[in-house]
Amino acid sequence: MYKESITDPSAFWSAIASEFYWKKEWDPANIVQGNFDTTKGPISTSFFSGAQTNIAWNCLDAQISKGRGDTAAFVWEGNGLDENKTMSYSEVCSEVNKLANWLRNIGVKKGDRVIIYMPMIPELPISMLACARIGAVHGVVFAGFSAESLAQRIIDSEAKIILTCNAVLRGTKLLDLKSIVDSAIGLGGDGCRITHCLCVANERAVPFSESNFILERDFWWKETVEKMSSTCETEWVDAEDALFMLYTSGSTGKPKGVVHTTGGYMVYAATTTKYVFDLKPGDLFWCTADCGWITGHTYVTYGPLLNGATSLVFEGVPNYPDPGRCWEIVDKFGVQVFYTAPTLIRSLQREGDDYVKKYSRSSLRLLGTVGEPINPEAWKWYHKVVGNGKCPIVDTWWQTETGGHLITPLPAAFPSKPGSAALPFFGVEPVILNEQGKELLGECEGLLCIKSPWPSMMRTIYGDHPRYETAYFKPFPGYYFTGDGARRDKDGYYWITGRVDDVINVSGHRIGSAEVESALVSHSLCTEAAVVGIEHAIKGQGIYAYVTILDGVEYTMELKKELIACVRSTIGPFAAPDTIHWAPSLPKTRSGKILRRILRKIACKDDSLGDISTLADKGVVEELVRLRDV
Ligand code: WTA
Repeated sequence: MYKESITDPSAFWSAIASEFYWKKEWDPANIVQGNFDTTKGPISTSFFSGAQTNIAWNCLDAQISKGRGDTAAFVWEGNGLDENKTMSYSEVCSEVNKLANWLRNIGVKKGDRVIIYMPMIPELPISMLACARIGAVHGVVFAGFSAESLAQRIIDSEAKIILTCNAVLRGTKLLDLKSIVDSAIGLGGDGCRITHCLCVANERAVPFSESNFILERDFWWKETVEKMSSTCETEWVDAEDALFMLYTSGSTGKPKGVVHTTGGYMVYAATTTKYVFDLKPGDLFWCTADCGWITGHTYVTYGPLLNGATSLVFEGVPNYPDPGRCWEIVDKFGVQVFYTAPTLIRSLQREGDDYVKKYSRSSLRLLGTVGEPINPEAWKWYHKVVGNGKCPIVDTWWQTETGGHLITPLPAAFPSKPGSAALPFFGVEPVILNEQGKELLGECEGLLCIKSPWPSMMRTIYGDHPRYETAYFKPFPGYYFTGDGARRDKDGYYWITGRVDDVINVSGHRIGSAEVESALVSHSLCTEAAVVGIEHAIKGQGIYAYVTILDGVEYTMELKKELIACVRSTIGPFAAPDTIHWAPSLPKTRSGKILRRILRKIACKDDSLGDISTLADKGVVEELVRLRDV
């Protein structure tokens, strides 16, 4: 199948696409278009352009028409042990339609952006599907982002509608989401166009008050959506119409609104879910990612439903009330396929095997990981202890930009190697380049690029196509540049070595060092900051921040705490630096460029600094080493 997908992508993808419902078929000449050569004109890729479909229809109505109306679409497990509910495909379809009708009633049209800022409750995937139903573009913002980050995304997306929830309990921590939304709208000032805020009332979390409800802007879900009709006319959209945008961090500048379109994304999300997770209708699949990240889009919401499977949505945290929670859930519902991040595996491994062995986990047949390289020790523990030595592991490499898995094992199709993402998925042509952009052959190590379009690749950055080309295609004309390094072994297996740019991967969350730096210098006493990622035993990478403070100001513990608080409030708690290192000055070249390579070495206590001849002032380095433990 792989060979066929490369030699004749049009035939390959159109055969798969025929299994879906299309209102209008594609023109055989337009199945795959585009190339990655910026010298030949603007980058413009399309799959099935001109054809019409709707992904919500394929996720819901198409499944119902195949007799799956009573099959569970979502199994929801709340934060507390006794909170759960199951929603069938028919029930989800009705709820999606009610919300879609409400959105349409208030004037939301095809192409309009809708921001979703919600915890992992069924209303989150339901909101995504409701937008899709009417052709609106959803922009889910992870509910761990601060008001400032949310404001930035509201402004950049020019959204007029936000869907949220008053509050949520995660473990024992209460997150007051509605007040974060209120502050974000306030912070947005004139740039914020929000006219409607629809709020789910989570009565389990907190006795809520309506005190800060703004008449005509704020609406309770229950009082409005519930009243709407449960049938809704589907908006048939072009395969190349935008389905969603999702912000992600790059190595420079503010977060990028990655835009994904409908047809190719649908086909690819469904196909990867089917083959990589060996998922069949009715199977229970649990992807632990939050819908605020791409993994939650493709493998909580769209992929499982497109396959008629049941997706488990978990609101809580894996160590509450204790670190056995995941396996308790697996046993309670009979989860067959479990997909998570290496950081979670490592943190549970540290808690000891007893929490795992207390549960049978006999329903599990396949395990997956995503988000960061998995170290062989964690891989082996996952395989031996969690999977009782009988479940294959799929280590899936992909990105927000790629929409779905690009390099991944296929369970039982070929042998896997602990720590390797194995081989390219159908239709994917990875290459390894050297710094000069030359393709390396055979066994090699270098920069990971992709040579040809695949159906679910991002089509643009919202409002900034030139940035799209500059970030992904200009570095190496003819190729999509992933930002990752990789090694290929003698069997052709890929081993991802991690980011080669200034993106830091903390617990599988992407954070741009530039974003953390700009949060730090927003403190009035911080004049300069340089942030690097360093190895972290549980989180994969930790954030190490060098800060220069105003001349004459004393560096104190208090100031250090304030700086960390600044990052928490500007980006979100998950981006808080692990270490703050006081730097009276930073190592720079004569032209003023910060030498991060040296900063990384000092941070991980590797004092073989290598060539420091380009440094403007060598004394700076000695001083930084001396101040390391201050
Ligand atoms: C990293 C998450 C090694 C990689 C789906 C990539 C991985 C970034 C793997 C994208 C893996 C993801 N092995 N590294 N299996 N999966 N990564 O956009 O550095 O949040 O570029 O998408 O995560 O992160 P993003």
